[in-house]
Amino acid sequence: MERLDKILASQGIGTRSEVRKMIWAGRVTVDGVPCKYIDRKLEPSEHDIAVSGVSVCYKKHLYIMMNKPKGVVSASNDSHVETVVDILPPDLRRKGLFPVGRLDKDTTGLLIITDDGAFAHAVTSPGKKVYKTYRVTLDAPLTEEDIRALSDGAVIDGGEQCLPAQVAVLDGEHFIYQIRIREGKYHQIKRMAQSVGRSVTQLERTAVGSLLLDRSLVCGEARELRQEEMSLPLLETPSLL
Ligand code: URA
Repeated sequence: MERLDKILASQGIGTRSEVRKMIWAGRVTVDGVPCKYIDRKLEPSEHDIAVSGVSVCYKKHLYIMMNKPKGVVSASNDSHVETVVDILPPDLRRKGLFPVGRLDKDTTGLLIITDDGAFAHAVTSPGKKVYKTYRVTLDAPLTEEDIRALSDGAVIDGGEQCLPAQVAVLDGEHFIYQIRIREGKYHQIKRMAQSVGRSVTQLERTAVGSLLLDRSLVCGEARELRQEEMSLPLLETPSLL
């Protein structure tokens, strides 16, 4: 059971003080009956709560897919730079949202944003070994030997050993590769490329586990995950794209 004002604020209807004003003004109904008590306790999933006649579709948690653009940081807030949460459309904003894992400021592609800590932990915890798939453009081609070295597990600067990666050529002429890793070391793909003497010129994440980037989202756009996407076994990995 939760307080009415807290429920409404949690659904992004307004700040706690804004929703209180709505309640006091008689704009909020519970099962069709106006309720002016901000501290009325109820189980939100069992009641029809409406604001100005419009039902609030209660969701305990929000799961968002963003096609992250360049130039924004993977954080909830930052005093200097725009974050992925700052650029969410108003209808997807609510308290407590954060990105699941990090993409560098200049990396684009699939980023999940949620307010569900347990879900985020399941995806990012090293023990769970969820594969992340990247489309990687390099400054020069990889040799067979480079591919073998990355596939066996690169040794990145400072002698850090990476787990074996899956590497496939997507476009040999333009030095574009698909690389899959199941860790999240700092700048991992860029450092793996450096370990074989290459530089990354473009980096896009195309999948997290079996969840694929929705290509109809242009960079910077976001939408809620669909029901069928939510039930995907994230630990499984699609065959090479
Ligand atoms: N590896 C990187 O180097 N950068 C990212 O953003 C993600 C993986």
